[in-house]
Amino acid sequence: MKISYKTLAVLLLTTFISLPSLAQNSPVKGVGAVSKVSISAQKVTMNTDQNAHVEVTVYTPTVVRVRMDKQPLGKDFSYAVVTQPQQAKVNITQNDKEVTIQTDSLQARITKNPFAVAFYTRDGKVINQDEEGLTTSWIGEEVTTYKKMQKGERFIGLGEKTGGLDRRGSGYTNWNTDAYAYTTGQDPLYTTFPFYIGIHNGLNYGIFFDNSYQSDFNFGASNDRFSSFGAQGGEMDYYFFYHTKLADLITSYTFLTGRMELPPLWSLGYQQNRYSYYPETEVFRIAQTLREKKIPADGITLDIHYMDKYKLFTWDKTRFPDPAAMNKKLKDMGFRTTVIVDPGIKIEEGYGAYERGVKDDVFLKYPDGKYYAGEVWPGWTHFPDFTSQKGREWWKKEIKFFAETGVDGFWNDMNEIATWGQKMPNNVLFNFEGNITTHKEGRNVYGLQMARASYEGARQHMQNKRPFILSRAGFSGSQRYSAIWTGDNRAEDSHMILGIRLLNSLGVSGVAFSAMDIGGFTGNAPVGLFARWIQLGAFTPYFRNHTGVNTRSAEPWAFGEEVTEIARNFISLRYKLMPYIYSNMYEATQSGQPLMRTLAIDYTHDDKVYNGEFESQYQFGKAFLIMPFESTKNYGKVYFPQGKWYDLWTGEVKQGNREEMIGVQYNKLPIYVKESSIIPMQSLVQHTGEMPTDTLTVHVYRGDVANSFVYYEDDGESYDYQKGGFYKRTITYDPRRKSITFGDAEGNFKTKFKHVKVMLHGYDEKARFKVNGKKADTKDDFASFIDPITRFDPQGTANPRIGYSVRSLVVRNDNGRFTINF
Ligand code: GLC
Repeated sequence: MKISYKTLAVLLLTTFISLPSLAQNSPVKGVGAVSKVSISAQKVTMNTDQNAHVEVTVYTPTVVRVRMDKQPLGKDFSYAVVTQPQQAKVNITQNDKEVTIQTDSLQARITKNPFAVAFYTRDGKVINQDEEGLTTSWIGEEVTTYKKMQKGERFIGLGEKTGGLDRRGSGYTNWNTDAYAYTTGQDPLYTTFPFYIGIHNGLNYGIFFDNSYQSDFNFGASNDRFSSFGAQGGEMDYYFFYHTKLADLITSYTFLTGRMELPPLWSLGYQQNRYSYYPETEVFRIAQTLREKKIPADGITLDIHYMDKYKLFTWDKTRFPDPAAMNKKLKDMGFRTTVIVDPGIKIEEGYGAYERGVKDDVFLKYPDGKYYAGEVWPGWTHFPDFTSQKGREWWKKEIKFFAETGVDGFWNDMNEIATWGQKMPNNVLFNFEGNITTHKEGRNVYGLQMARASYEGARQHMQNKRPFILSRAGFSGSQRYSAIWTGDNRAEDSHMILGIRLLNSLGVSGVAFSAMDIGGFTGNAPVGLFARWIQLGAFTPYFRNHTGVNTRSAEPWAFGEEVTEIARNFISLRYKLMPYIYSNMYEATQSGQPLMRTLAIDYTHDDKVYNGEFESQYQFGKAFLIMPFESTKNYGKVYFPQGKWYDLWTGEVKQGNREEMIGVQYNKLPIYVKESSIIPMQSLVQHTGEMPTDTLTVHVYRGDVANSFVYYEDDGESYDYQKGGFYKRTITYDPRRKSITFGDAEGNFKTKFKHVKVMLHGYDEKARFKVNGKKADTKDDFASFIDPITRFDPQGTANPRIGYSVRSLVVRNDNGRFTINF
């Protein structure tokens, strides 16, 4: 076809005219071009020609907040963020084209036309940038920011989300949901942690989208143009984090949203649970059997049948005639009681909690002032508005009911909010600390605020004692009040492995204290599956065996004698590791570092760790490398990241940066220890209240890398540690100086341990050691972490002890610094 100049001119003209009009009529409203800029010390405020209002604020040299709306920004309020901007050295400049923000760690460049943000390293490498054509836009109330997909970019985090470790290629929704018996690909589940980490070209950054409306994250699901995050309403309000080490992103994110408090020591012991143990005699039978079978345990959990017809703040008096006496007796046996608490309060005249709730007017309402009613365990119920001070104060008063009977733990369930039928109307109003809003914005923080009310109530009524709080629903910041468990999983291999990834992902999203139902909630675990799961459970933060109503018994002894031995072995190992575990929890309170560490934390840029075959491997603290294997597998491929790794059972050393096919024994989960690790252990106890022997055994693994470990101890149950009642010392392994140094003890708590026994792995008989410069006596010792299974071999002849010989030496612990040289 021949086109005349005239036609061409008309064509061009119409394109020109129609383009802007297309944009103007588009249902997608872009943020527009910056028309006004005002700069203050750490903040840039901007308006655009599309009436968008933008604020970019430097929180710390590594954290920058971007906030915008298509109307003037609202009141600055967040349930997640607990930190104000910190004074920092910031240089902000502008020219016609852009505004540049420079901190000691990064540079943010804001392009003016159209408004777009890009983050760079100090030396000019792109860390993260808006997708230039799309940037941020609105569709009605829905707001989304689009980020250019970087070459080879991966994404991890977002809390309790199914799918692979690397979330590239997937999309996710946050809408807290009661996901009974969820599938391994289901989304959303119970919680919302809108924090993710992007990884590419040797760099890593974090983004926390602080918006509690239903939100959607797209990590290049279906195309490679962009990744995006957006919400059904509210502001575009996100924090950008940049650190060279991925672990530091977690530290910064938990600096912003808070960290966990030290949990009571008993909550790190084994917890026995089912839906439900009753009556009281059954509870004692379980407790007694644990003691008789020498399966260490600290907790018994009571599920909904302890209540009178599922009415909260009541006891079923025929099943539990004297709860205070029962709890006292359990405590004398070394058990703590945790009770389930559900938010639904039965609508029933004459029922105390209901009447008090109505009197104080604490329940969620419709706009016409009538209470919202939903159906759950007790039938028709009202729900306290935990987003109001009044609602929380009421709950805190009610919590006294349990505290008075000697309950130590509060298991917050059904707080998504779960109602039969799952459809809660959007016109239900939430107080939101006086900024009245709807279900749309309130739902995702309801569980967080319930856990907060339980925590604050328990603190009020338990004096100086630390409560244990567990929650099913949550939002960023939950870690400040509660542990999170992953709800109603299934007794299937795929769930055991998925559970590990869920907990690993919660870990990178600030939740260090987490759990899954060990053994599976729905269905009956086959013997082999239970055997494997209980071994893995010993290497998860909150270690609770739980199963649903009407399933077969799932206590460790319900699977036969061999499994009982396996369970006893691993639960005992857990108790021996308590000094290590508790010290790691202390670390979480200080830096937010999780106990369960996906390999992506320390081996971020090693492609292998994202490989489907290896993505569920994790570190438990920094010392242990755990290889989760389905129970059906008796061999399989594992990956050893860089470094040297000791087989926990045999001491055999594996070189890193290698894949290997290994055999998996039924009774021994494959576990490896990283070179240069420092692992403090104690003698076996049956519960955390029992005194171990006065020797702290510290395993040190010879290696070529420097390492240090902060050993931490306190009374394990009060808040005295906040007033100096702790014992802390740093233990350092230095291969260059050939030394192991125990630093001076800090704090005024008296340690339980009068002696330190150092078990020296990787040194042969010829090795010579000195303590503080003097020749030390070493002895040939046996490093053994579990016992052989004797069920089929009572004499132990065919089953020699599991372990290997190492050198050991003992130092009297006078709390002063000492150095071992090798
Ligand atoms: C929910 C919980 C489960 C509990 C059950 C009964 O399904 O997730 O753990 O046992 O309710 O309270």
